[in-house]
Amino acid sequence: MKPKMNLRETTSGARPRHLLVLGALLLTGAICNTSYAADPNRGRQLYSIHCITCHGGPGITAAPGSPSFERGQGLMRPDFILMEATRLGKNAMPAYQGVLSNRDILDTIAYMRTLH
Ligand code: HEC
Repeated sequence: MKPKMNLRETTSGARPRHLLVLGALLLTGAICNTSYAADPNRGRQLYSIHCITCHGGPGITAAPGSPSFERGQGLMRPDFILMEATRLGKNAMPAYQGVLSNRDILDTIAYMRTLH
């Protein structure tokens, strides 16, 4: 006769290991802050220092030739594309590579998306 597998023993043995792995993942996430979300409040400050003169904002119209982010111009693209455009610059648009970090730019874009 085949020995019956004791299911209760198997599952109760596995549960603490799962909890251990889950705990380790949560701890890693907390320490490394891997779940960073863009901060539009920080972005507002950066935008008013670096971008508002050309792209406009509440009560300020965009300079001729610059997309008005208050009217949502140019924003129908993913964050990654807008970040590259900001880093590299284009014609009268200055390049911000070396001036703003990727995190700075993503925060700024998060704020730009609240404008219209
Ligand atoms: C000196 C004026 C000026 C400043 C300052 C400026 N921009 Fe621009 N920006 C422009 C102009 C002009 C364009 C349009 C460029 C073109 O298409 O020829 C532009 C275009 C863009 C675009 C769209 C690029 C594309 O591919 O269509 C993004 C995104 C952008 N700017 C983001 C920013 C951000 C973010 C800041 C601040 C960190 C900023 N800009 C600061 C003038 C400026």
